[in-house]
Amino acid sequence: MAIRKVARMGHPVLRQIARELTQEEILSEDTRLLVRDMIESMNEYGGIGIAAPQIYESVAVAVIDYQEEGEDGSVINEQPLTVVINPKIKVLDDKRQGFWEGCLSVPEIRGLVYRPRKVQIDYLDLSAKPQKIVAEGFLATVFQHELDHLFGTLFVDRVEYAPGKSPIAFTEEYQKYLTPEEDDDIGELAD
Ligand code: NI
Repeated sequence: MAIRKVARMGHPVLRQIARELTQEEILSEDTRLLVRDMIESMNEYGGIGIAAPQIYESVAVAVIDYQEEGEDGSVINEQPLTVVINPKIKVLDDKRQGFWEGCLSVPEIRGLVYRPRKVQIDYLDLSAKPQKIVAEGFLATVFQHELDHLFGTLFVDRVEYAPGKSPIAFTEEYQKYLTPEEDDDIGELAD
């Protein structure tokens, strides 16, 4: 097992369209090792998701592992460790929701991104079997963020820039000046 270095914004690998894997490749030892390194790296750096291009492998593989606890400690929103290969994303509800996003490849930056609130992801699992996930709310944003990495897109590309009010900030200033109020219709994603 190995913790890999994470590619940072500016490295060309983050701008490439990741190659899909063949069934034979999915079932190979190489892919098992890649996924193991992705999980270990994600855990080491404290992400809730990671895409293969972030560890310099331009293939269509992403891992998501997210769990949110309610105030009483019960799990209210979770995506247990999921490996997503060759995913296709379909918007089920294009009403947009905003979250402040972060990314292991864009350290120390937060940006407010509006994305569709409900999506379906069709993908292959590690056994090369077709699977489907419907994600809503925060998880819909998590999946869209990770899958964007497979298409050369970073969350900063999706921030709506305008003179005088661009919602992008360093983490420290974000926490000081921009953290959403509880009633705001926006949340946080620090991936
Ligand atoms: Ni990211």
